[in-house]
Amino acid sequence: LFAQAWDFMWGTKFFHQLPPIEGVEIAFAGRSNVGKSSLLNAITGRKALARTSQTPGRTKELNFFRPEKDPTLVICDMPGYGYAKASKKEVAAWNQLILDYLKGRPNLRRVYVLVDSRHGLKQSDLDVMTTLDKAAVNYQVILTKVDKTKLSELTKTLVKVKLGIKKRPAAHPEVLLTSAEKKIGITLLRAQMLHLSEG
Ligand code: GTP
Ligand code: MG
Repeated sequence: LFAQAWDFMWGTKFFHQLPPIEGVEIAFAGRSNVGKSSLLNAITGRKALARTSQTPGRTKELNFFRPEKDPTLVICDMPGYGYAKASKKEVAAWNQLILDYLKGRPNLRRVYVLVDSRHGLKQSDLDVMTTLDKAAVNYQVILTKVDKTKLSELTKTLVKVKLGIKKRPAAHPEVLLTSAEKKIGITLLRAQMLHLSEG
């Protein structure tokens, strides 16, 4: 699947306008600016498939991507949560959309919860994980931007994250380490996604 060209498929701000269900879906969730869109680009091998930005709040819709010739796997790049500078109305609308999607998508096989390896878990991450636990949607934490983090810091974050997910019923116990910039962890993540799309 990852040898193929990936395409943008659909983008929407509304739950009632989600694309039709085709194959397995995997979503990238996380706070604004953690690197969701960058990781999607690294995974699909296309530099600017999903738009990225230094300014938080870049992705404003649920954006769906899939391989050109094979709809067995769809990746959803989500707007970030916890973005303080957008208007209250906008934030509320995004949060509602994210919640509706995470709770109500039958073919959503896994949610990757992306967390900045320098910052660790924040309250908004815990809230999303609680939602996923309640909805029994399988999720896994990915620490992003490891190229920017000192090894000692990374170790600390990793230990804390592992503690934070230990008792959570829908959390995958392994935490992945990635860098979209230095292409770290990409091969492993692709292999996992392939496995999920087949299982
Ligand atoms: P929103 O769409 O606003 O929620 O953000 P996002 O989570 O999609 O983040 P995005 O991919 O747009 O990346 C945010 C910033 O972090 C950009 O300036 C990226 O270049 C940078 N970035 C993303 N991944 C990495 C990484 O692995 N290493 C480094 N050093 N920078 C990264
Ligand atoms: Mg984005």
